[in-house]
Amino acid sequence: MKKHLCLLISLIIFFFTACKEAPKTDVPLYEISKAATTDKAMVVSAHPHATNIGVDLLQQGGNAYDAAIGVQFALAVVYPVAGNIGGGGFMVSRTKAGEITTLDYREKAPAAAHRDMYLDSLDNVIKGLSINGHLAAGVPGSVDGMFKIFEKYSKLKDFKKLIQPSIDLAEKGFKITAKQAQNLNGKQDAFKTCNTTMPVFVKDMPWKEGDLLVQKDLANTLKRIRDQGEAGFYEGETADLIVKEMQAGGGIISKEDLKNYDAVWRTPLNTVYKGYNIISMAPPSSGGIALTQLLEMVEPYPIKDWGFQSQKTVHLITEAERRVYADRAKHLGDNDYYKVPMEELKNPDYLKSRMKNFNPDLATSSDSIEAGVFEPKESEQTTHFSIVDQEGNAISITTTINSGYGSKTVVTGAGFLLNNEMDDFSSKPGTPNFYGLLGAEANAIEPGKRMLSSMTPSIVEKDNKLFMVVGTPGGSTIITSVFQTILNVTEFGMTMDEAVAAPRFHHQWKPDKIMVEKDAVSPADRIALEGMGHEFLERGSIGRVDAILIKPNGKLEGGADPRGDDHVAGF
Ligand code: GLY
Repeated sequence: MKKHLCLLISLIIFFFTACKEAPKTDVPLYEISKAATTDKAMVVSAHPHATNIGVDLLQQGGNAYDAAIGVQFALAVVYPVAGNIGGGGFMVSRTKAGEITTLDYREKAPAAAHRDMYLDSLDNVIKGLSINGHLAAGVPGSVDGMFKIFEKYSKLKDFKKLIQPSIDLAEKGFKITAKQAQNLNGKQDAFKTCNTTMPVFVKDMPWKEGDLLVQKDLANTLKRIRDQGEAGFYEGETADLIVKEMQAGGGIISKEDLKNYDAVWRTPLNTVYKGYNIISMAPPSSGGIALTQLLEMVEPYPIKDWGFQSQKTVHLITEAERRVYADRAKHLGDNDYYKVPMEELKNPDYLKSRMKNFNPDLATSSDSIEAGVFEPKESEQTTHFSIVDQEGNAISITTTINSGYGSKTVVTGAGFLLNNEMDDFSSKPGTPNFYGLLGAEANAIEPGKRMLSSMTPSIVEKDNKLFMVVGTPGGSTIITSVFQTILNVTEFGMTMDEAVAAPRFHHQWKPDKIMVEKDAVSPADRIALEGMGHEFLERGSIGRVDAILIKPNGKLEGGADPRGDDHVAGF
């Protein structure tokens, strides 16, 4: 009997060992590279399909602008949480000859919008109205933005070639990743509440890794854009579908709003930091001004000697961020509607005076406000991609529908998600928005105005040559993530992938807390900083930086953020 029992146990052990050690047959869904070095060209984006489409277009002889258009449309299909044709964005580009241009294809408030549209009869903000559903959407700018880029810079001069890979992916479907399945499952209730007909994102059984996402309606919309150009989106059938959707769900975007949408070439902003020329986006993004202010405020201090995320470094950066976000709340908005005091905000004497009360030993207190404390509840979804082509042209694009899946409303029959960018306006002074950001008159809602953004697509030059292409999603944390990534390379000597992966922290004036990723600050430094009066708030990931560094030997070093499915590739 004992002998039989021993045999049985041996068999069980053998069976489990054999199962455990059986060779794995399942191949990964996608090859995802987080770091790469290439000779000539590179694309880094939030999804492997989008990166690969960009690289293919470059290999077909397209330039960075062609690749960027291909990537923007691909992300609209394979990264619906933030990629879009129903949103907007900003492009910062540098041609091989060193010409800098910046394009603003940010959404606009519809003509029927007004400053109190999210307030009840007692002047209180109606919770969620600017975030979920039809009324949250601004007039989309992405499609016009892509045509503006195409007309000015395309080398392939064949729009069909740029958009067709995305049409194929929408029509035939693509396999979703585990992270995408998790995101879609987390939004099922919101999709059901915010839609007049159930979109393809709603499923009876939970989504799982490897499920095929087919988007026929989106494919048809992309075909109309392919065949009719901009009119395929802003007029005709797509415009009819958008307006019908608005009428069904209480939204206000009209045919006139769509027809009148116009992306704008803006004057780039730049600042010189310790010999690096940092170029970024002007209003209606706050990114360029805020990045300028942050860099100028920390420049006099020896943060390289203090070290990465040391007590002194974290304290200094926090104090600079506190002051910059206070300025942002009061002074920044769409410069076409509100005179932003840009020169004053960037003035070196002003920035020195802002740091006059910086105490190296003590935290300054941010004034208390009557509105509640911001605690991030969901991820901030925007997306960024960086491209350098074989000729040396560089593109930094950040594009968004605002929070994850935007308004969660899909245009019936057209298959794309509408943004909830109206929440980036200040619905009421002193009341924080989704990101806990405060605003004032400068960012009040007006018809046709663009809502203030934090998007900070940036390009860095050194000795008049291209040095870095960088940007990130992350709502209010975008500016500080770009800032810290630039410092990680220029001050702390990190490689691009190290700089992108390094843990981050963030302070935005109100709430008066240093938000930290796990392990961003060592326990000893944290205790020391708390002793100086700082409060910490642990949170999930901050930003998803996708960036490219140009090495002294001309090679390209890419970093795709390990916080997502982001992928770098090139040749
Ligand atoms: N919607 C996020 C931003 O533009 O800052």
